[in-house]
Amino acid sequence: MAELKNDRFLRALLREPVDVTPVWMMRQAGRYLPEYRATRAQAGDFLSLCKNRELACEVTLQPLERYDLDAAILFSDILTIPDAMGLGLYFEQGEGPKFEKVVRTEKDVDELPVPDAASDLDYVMAAVSEIRGALSGRVPLIGFSGSPWTLATYMVEGGSSKDFRHIKKMMYATPEVMHALLDKLAQSVTHYLNEQIRSGAQAVQIFDTWGGALSGPMYQEFSLKYMQQIVSGLIREYDGRRVPVIMFTKNGGQWLEVMAEAGADALGLDWTTNIDDARRRVGDRVALQGNMDPSVLYAPAERIRAEVADILARFGTGNGHVFNLGHGIHQFVDPESAKVFVDAVHELSAQYHR
Ligand code: CP3
Repeated sequence: MAELKNDRFLRALLREPVDVTPVWMMRQAGRYLPEYRATRAQAGDFLSLCKNRELACEVTLQPLERYDLDAAILFSDILTIPDAMGLGLYFEQGEGPKFEKVVRTEKDVDELPVPDAASDLDYVMAAVSEIRGALSGRVPLIGFSGSPWTLATYMVEGGSSKDFRHIKKMMYATPEVMHALLDKLAQSVTHYLNEQIRSGAQAVQIFDTWGGALSGPMYQEFSLKYMQQIVSGLIREYDGRRVPVIMFTKNGGQWLEVMAEAGADALGLDWTTNIDDARRRVGDRVALQGNMDPSVLYAPAERIRAEVADILARFGTGNGHVFNLGHGIHQFVDPESAKVFVDAVHELSAQYHR
């Protein structure tokens, strides 16, 4: 494997010194880029793009051609696991993900297999090794998965949801069924992430997009607990290097203290928490990743730079910050604004790393 030329991202996740603050963007390969839309059209649709190793590699690298990013993220989706469990994932134009089969009863849960990541999700592993080879050490490659709770929301609701009606009913009315489903998902995610690490992922992120829809006690029992189970089963060193784990619960800012105890190296932060407060609360237990509101990218360049400067000043000096957006980049953002953002992070952060 090629020597890693830029390891700022991995170093910051481990709270080691860096020259400038590393930066990447959640959903950095996506519809805001015209070249992404062209490759997706060539593939036919989004899922075919995920399943084609050359094209998945091509779109992963597209944002790195435009911007001075410090990490690449595997082009795939969190819903590959439920698809491999036999639920039949499909996307309807403009409507988000949907499943042909939903999971609502104890019998539904019992019948779900734990996928064999190496064979059932071989197309994901093929994309990981293809991308890792194509990067040839330029920047590290991030692998990822959804959290058990977040995956379960899609499986039980049958797609995206605003009120989580069915899954919350399952959680409160039949908690043992909910736990059985989450346990199966935690096993599946652990195998899946370990296989990504063996295939070439150098850090992994767990996306808990919907953990913030729970009450505090329910978050700990139904989301955090299973992420903790995953983290404790992950390969933490590979090829002589630590493989950092980032845990991102959107809207989880109130629970940082318990999240910091879960065993992850870093916590992702959305924009609803001030990063200076977050840093005080987690201390030196974990690094922090975030947390600019993605909507700032609709503003003029000077406003974007001011917002980057503010977040850097709030974090202050010392180690353990990876700059990112607080959630995925929006599809209507001008690609030039993303360049202003990435360049501002490097330029304005040097003063904090002397
Ligand atoms: O960050 C990256 O560049 C890597 C790729 C990535 C995608 N999905 C590609 C994608 C990652 C990390 C994800 C994770 C994902 N997928 C999450 C967790 C992160 C988050 O955003 O909260 C979730 C909840 C999903 C499920 C999912 N996949 C939804 C709700 C949708 C529809 C979104 C929309 O904007 O329409 C998808 C589809 C999807 N996944 C797209 C991309 C680029 C858009 C598909 C397209 O090209 O039309």
